[in-house]
Amino acid sequence: MRILGIETSCDDTGAAIYDSQQGLVVNRLASQVDIHNLYGGVVPELAARDHIRKLLPLIENLMQDPANDGRSVDAIAYTAGPGLAGALLVGASVASGLAYAWNVPALPIHHMEGHLLAPMLEDTFPEFPFVALLVSGGHTQLIDVEAAGKYRLMGQTRDDAAGEAFDKTAKLLGLGYPGGPKIAACAREGREDRFVFPRPMTRQPGLEFSFSGLKTQVLTTTRKQPRLDSQTIADIALAFELAVVDTLTIKCMHALEISGRTRLVVSGGVGANQRLRDRLRQECEKRGGEIFYPRMEFCTDNGAMIAYAGYFRWELEMKEDPKFKHHGGFDIRPRWSLEDLS
Ligand code: KG4
Ligand code: ZN
Repeated sequence: MRILGIETSCDDTGAAIYDSQQGLVVNRLASQVDIHNLYGGVVPELAARDHIRKLLPLIENLMQDPANDGRSVDAIAYTAGPGLAGALLVGASVASGLAYAWNVPALPIHHMEGHLLAPMLEDTFPEFPFVALLVSGGHTQLIDVEAAGKYRLMGQTRDDAAGEAFDKTAKLLGLGYPGGPKIAACAREGREDRFVFPRPMTRQPGLEFSFSGLKTQVLTTTRKQPRLDSQTIADIALAFELAVVDTLTIKCMHALEISGRTRLVVSGGVGANQRLRDRLRQECEKRGGEIFYPRMEFCTDNGAMIAYAGYFRWELEMKEDPKFKHHGGFDIRPRWSLEDLS
């Protein structure tokens, strides 16, 4: 089975082809960073307009790639939510139009299920069950994945997502957008002992997160400095990154303990953070557990994870009902809980 995956939930236009025999065939991404960087964050209307400009040429280019060998696809998977409504509508309408023209089903995919399954595109991938840490610009969640498609939310953020905290903090420090990579790069020049920020909610027994206070801490710290030179900014960036990494690590280890699982999956944009990857690997290995991540480029938004999730959903739903048929028409769900899929 060959599936075209389309991702347009936020500020990346992604398209990819996944084949159940060959694996990932071809993958393309058009980033909008240069557009949103001017405003210090994603402007939803501009995101939607740029998806309109980029998506069809991207798909045309993908289908004509020599790796696809001129073949057609058996289904089209598109991100139906959660995400920005206008941006989602572009992917949903293009997917449904092409599906109608090519007489194949259009499969609405949950963006976070895409992230959660992204490690399945790697040579070493996790078996079920596992605990997943999903950390992106809009979500910070710990999910207990008991079996294929069976999701239980163990804990999530009460306010800002981890990626959002990176983005807001980078803005405060004048580092630009997107904040995660900018802070990580700046923190490399930082000195470790100058500032220490709290590890929010780690003294409580639950698995909830709260990152909005950390951003305020950064703000008050910057205001107290007589001079905000580049070394001071790097020192603050490092203290912030260490606080987020430490907090996520403590909660992940706690989630593994509570659930009795031994495998941890980390995905979503913040999962591209090298310090977080190293730290989580260390802690998992210390406990005799295993850790799985997607490659860096598949941590942030991409079409490959949506194409794979399309294949995964198709297989799952066919198993439950071999006569299963997807209806025509299309749907978007800007707010959509992962647990609704179980
Ligand atoms: O998954 P993603 O591409 O889009 C959403 O679904 O939100 O995640 C984007 C988020 C942004 O907040 C960005 O700052 C963060 O992931 N991010 C990082 C890194 N790369 C991207 N955060 C920390 N370190 C990074 N290296
Ligand atoms: Zn995402």
